[in-house]
Amino acid sequence: MSAATTADAVPRPEDIVDEPLVWWYFMAALAYLAISMAAGMLMALQLVHWNPLNGMELLSPGRWRMVHTNAVAYGFLANAFLGGLHWAIPRLTLRPVLNRGLSWFIFAAWQVVVVSTAVGIILGQAQGIEWGETPVWIDPLALAGLALVAVNFMAPIIRTRGPYYVTLWYFMAAFIWTFLTYAMGNFLPQYYVAGTSGGAIAGLFIHDLVGLFVTPLGWGDSGGWPSFIR
Ligand code: HEM
Repeated sequence: MSAATTADAVPRPEDIVDEPLVWWYFMAALAYLAISMAAGMLMALQLVHWNPLNGMELLSPGRWRMVHTNAVAYGFLANAFLGGLHWAIPRLTLRPVLNRGLSWFIFAAWQVVVVSTAVGIILGQAQGIEWGETPVWIDPLALAGLALVAVNFMAPIIRTRGPYYVTLWYFMAAFIWTFLTYAMGNFLPQYYVAGTSGGAIAGLFIHDLVGLFVTPLGWGDSGGWPSFIR
């Protein structure tokens, strides 16, 4: 095969990466980072006994502390990771994701999940599980969203021939573990395991969110760093 033919067979990155979507994910991540830090400031002011909004239930620092942690995890980190995945996976597999329309739907649905979580927490609907404060009615939607994310990204990975980049193994692990961790933390203590045992599971949930959601995606993205260079 001539060099020209070989080059023709490799798709151009701009044809397989939905760059506007990546941009929007990063913009959303930055917006939630700003919101989260503003909420963190409100909590911090309470800790130094200077809450400027004393007596206002909707703006009470206790609730905004949860907005702070949730907006960091699900607004900032998850959006940034999803943007990174949309950039890296097509480049590492030389294939687009399963469906671009589905990608944009997931983007919009995820923003609805994050905003609804914040609004629910502010209105006092928080679930009594740290980092799992997401109101109970949002949990099934978030879980369905995580399943769609996995399907959308697994399609190009499964179609890839030959050995996978290590980054892709980390990403695949993250898709499975994040789904299972979210289900464990948000459903088991709420509906099935009461008392101290439920508390132990809630603790494991926090631990696993870091170890099985943030770590594999963080490792994957750092391993996939060369793919971020044009
Ligand atoms: C202006 C910036 C920030 C401010 C003022 C701020 C403030 C706070 C405050 C007051 C708390 C509660 C501490 C407590 O209850 O004892 C907190 C918790 C937390 N913040 Fe921030 N924060 C900021 C930025 C960030 C960023 C950028 C991240 C992560 C990327 C982050 C992650 C966390 C986490 C994980 C907790 C929970 C810690 C725990 O429960 O032990 N914060 N933050």
